[in-house]
Amino acid sequence: MGELAKSNYGDLTVRRLHPAIGGEVRGVDFSKPLSAETVDAVKQAWADHLVLVFPDQPISDEQHVEVTRYFGEPEVFHQDRIKSKYVREIFRVANTDEDGNIMPPSNPVQQQLSSARKWHTDSSYREKPAIGSLLHGVEISRTGGVTCFTNMYEVYDALPDTLKAKVEGRKARHDFEMLSRLTGAPKPTDAERAAMPAVWQPLVRRHPVTGRKSLYISPIYNDAIEGVSDDEAGTLIAELTEFAGQERFVYEHTWSPDDILMWDNRCTMHYVTPHDPTERRVMHRTTIAGDAAVEAA
Ligand code: OGA
Ligand code: MN
Repeated sequence: MGELAKSNYGDLTVRRLHPAIGGEVRGVDFSKPLSAETVDAVKQAWADHLVLVFPDQPISDEQHVEVTRYFGEPEVFHQDRIKSKYVREIFRVANTDEDGNIMPPSNPVQQQLSSARKWHTDSSYREKPAIGSLLHGVEISRTGGVTCFTNMYEVYDALPDTLKAKVEGRKARHDFEMLSRLTGAPKPTDAERAAMPAVWQPLVRRHPVTGRKSLYISPIYNDAIEGVSDDEAGTLIAELTEFAGQERFVYEHTWSPDDILMWDNRCTMHYVTPHDPTERRVMHRTTIAGDAAVEAA
């Protein structure tokens, strides 16, 4: 493959990382306030590339939250055990606790986080799912921990007619409780369940900014599809997931320290490959809260 194209967005330079998805952004410094022009340029580059990689951004958690505010309202995760106790908007995708001790895979937090090793899109179980996520590689893995992203616009466009017919006009259920069934993590308490009831989301959605149609599934949360048995739903979700995971749609990100990745949860899915659980991996995420229900297309 030849050198992938570079393009300019105002003062920013974006280098394409994969033909379908991903752009590496130079010319922005998240440790300083951003101008309105820079924010607009980032938004445009984001709409075009779906996942942006900002290398070399050694910022604090407070700065990470401030950067997130340029793009929307930071979401506060509804369970305490994965949130930072210092900065409540930080969701810790980490195998250490905040005193620096490694947690074994049998720890409930690790069990819950292990769900991220399967394709998903963040907080799709909310009535208004997250717009995007910003993940900061604080301590990165060298033994795995590669984060993979797929372009769900292109996946939708390329779906064979037989699969398209099965998703058109239909909804899938997204249930946070699926995580405990999937990973053995503790079941949500009655209060958590009441605060996060399962929701039905369209399988084909329209992006509020780009107007493009995409396939909308989040396999770690999907347990039912309208109009079919749960067995058939499981088979269909598995088929769609396999289709979406083809190389032609997927960028695989190998992390460097202080990379910040910003992805659009409305038109992508992601997962992370396993790593040696005795190696520290500390990633801090903010989430841009949803401001609208998903638009069916
Ligand atoms: C996430 C996630 C992947 C990773 O933060 O939402 O799925 O690479 N993380 O840790
Ligand atoms: Mn995720």
